[in-house]
Amino acid sequence: MKVQFGASRLELVQDDITRQIVDAIVNAANTDLAGGGGVDGAIHRIAGPSVMEETRIRYPLGCPAGDAVVSSAGELRAKFIFHAVGPVWRGGQQRETELLRSCFRRCLELAEKHECDSIAFPAISTGVYRFPVDLAAENSLDEIRKSFTTLVRPKLVRMVLFDAGIYGAFARVLESFVIG
Ligand code: APR
Repeated sequence: MKVQFGASRLELVQDDITRQIVDAIVNAANTDLAGGGGVDGAIHRIAGPSVMEETRIRYPLGCPAGDAVVSSAGELRAKFIFHAVGPVWRGGQQRETELLRSCFRRCLELAEKHECDSIAFPAISTGVYRFPVDLAAENSLDEIRKSFTTLVRPKLVRMVLFDAGIYGAFARVLESFVIG
């Protein structure tokens, strides 16, 4: 599914994020930038050990939830990886929604700063971190839509959803944006 917002395009695809050819690939990392399963495991497996080595040296204190840091992309077909740390869902009273939105905003700001025309996001926090998928879809897509009104780049934002259920949830929200 593709929707044009002025000069920028928002796409939803059901795919593996490590297969994307874009300027920046976003990782769903943890505060220690220590690697893990899910998208994080897949990205580091394909990117190779140089990426973990780089983040260990550049970010010895890790990265707080709601923020993101940049590294090179190793063997991925991208220029950068943005390692974003989503919130762990703890019932909704711990600023989870605000922190999820902040992850998307920070990555889009990094994309502008590093002159990236295209960026691919996974559905941050919807796996191991158990963020409710419908709520994640609503807030993730709304934050992306908002960025199109303030940032010049990126021109293409692709949400890469791994399974059909999560793709469906994001597609329903994006349709509601179009229909209004
Ligand atoms: N491509 C795209 N999406 C993927 C892929 C992939 N290769 N693999 C998994 N996903 C999807 C999951 O289906 C889920 O919808 O990414 C979404 C986020 O899931 P997680 O990777 O579990 O990320 P998150 O919920 O943010 O939890 C982060 O998990 O792996 C650890 O180190 C990571 O501790 C951190 C935590």
